[in-house]
Amino acid sequence: MSFNPTTDGAAGGRPPILVTGGAGFIGSNFVLDWLAANAGPVVNLDKLTYAGNPENLASIADDPGYTFVQGDICDAALVARLLDEHRPRAIMHFAAESHVDRSILGPEAFLRTNIDGTFTLLQAARAYHASLAGEEKEGFRFLHVSTDEVYGTLAPDDPAFHEETPYAPNSPYAASKAASDHLVRAWVHTYGLPAIITNCSNNYGPYQFPEKLIPLMIANALKGKPLPVYGDGQQVRDWLFVLDHCRALRKVLERGRVGETYNVGGGNQRSNLEVVKTLCSLLDELMPHSSFRPHAQLITYVEDRPGHDRRYAIDARKIESELDWRAQESFETGLRRTVEWYLANSVWVENVTSGAYQHWVKQNYAARSTVTEGAR
Ligand code: NAD
Ligand code: TYD
Repeated sequence: MSFNPTTDGAAGGRPPILVTGGAGFIGSNFVLDWLAANAGPVVNLDKLTYAGNPENLASIADDPGYTFVQGDICDAALVARLLDEHRPRAIMHFAAESHVDRSILGPEAFLRTNIDGTFTLLQAARAYHASLAGEEKEGFRFLHVSTDEVYGTLAPDDPAFHEETPYAPNSPYAASKAASDHLVRAWVHTYGLPAIITNCSNNYGPYQFPEKLIPLMIANALKGKPLPVYGDGQQVRDWLFVLDHCRALRKVLERGRVGETYNVGGGNQRSNLEVVKTLCSLLDELMPHSSFRPHAQLITYVEDRPGHDRRYAIDARKIESELDWRAQESFETGLRRTVEWYLANSVWVENVTSGAYQHWVKQNYAARSTVTEGAR
């Protein structure tokens, strides 16, 4: 019997879920949403790398249904102890190194966390699952949160990625996530671990670290800094508002079939240049007194990312028809909500962009040549 996080929820003695990487962008949105829905207790295991930020979860820090554990998913003894102590009904596995540019400049951490870390969790989950009986055993789920980047790149007229699209990862990040997906698949097939994989397109929304396209452009524009568009800016991504992703994950946990993959996407294909220009217009409108208006004047074309995937697009018909999930936020409303959040949370932006962030900006952007319009 699988549990229903909406109706079965809450404090009434229900076992918790174990979330990994819950202090990151999607993980913290998921945890906040889960607790707001009174869906039961959460144990959050997060190493707090540069991408993990306890400030995201400050509003629930004292919630009796929330337990935070700072630790590494590669630490087998810690993971086994947490499973034994908390006896979760599910593991929601978000923890990962997640930024393509960082994976290009330093792939080691990606192999360690994304592959070894997932392996460690799978082994621990397998032993824990074997120790369960009856309904607890039947209801247990391991949900592996993955990306559409495992499928590689699409030409402009190619059909969108579906669940049977062959894997063809192109970046160290995508390769490490593809490897982790394969491990999960094998643990289902060989050991009977009740796992499910989701492959989602690019997320955006509150609490996203400003190394990724949308929050980086907002943070730079607010300071009148150049908006660095890689190459010709015609690469296409399929954008999904983060809370739509969180809702999809809850549906998959509730009703997804063990051993299946579900692709999740918003049906919002946009070129990077379109996204940046839309952000600039929103900022022009929301900050009528900014001295940097029109913000589009800050757009700067810089040297392309090596191996840059041209286009991603998700065919989400399986999750739509099987689990009755659909993205609720349009790209226009989601982007507006996101810009408004960043404007209202300038202290959060200030805190995450000080210190080590400046080192990253230097590493990733200083060596990139600027490309003038005519030279492209
Ligand atoms: P993120 O980089 O914002 O957060 C990752 C979190 O994992 C951080 O809190 C970090 O501290 C933690 N972490 C990293 N290494 C760890 C380790 N060894 N042990 C414990 N915790 C560790 O990432 P995100 O954007 O929130 O992505 C979450 C998941 O969703 C990832 O698995 C990613 O591959 C997947 N995903 C992301 C997107 C996207 O657009 N952001 C799209 C599809 C799928
Ligand atoms: P990103 O947010 O890093 O996500 P991903 O690489 O996982 O899709 O980048 C989204 C797109 O934006 C991608 O095509 C690269 C591009 N991009 C820029 O043009 N400039 C930037 O400074 C960044 C960070 C990304």
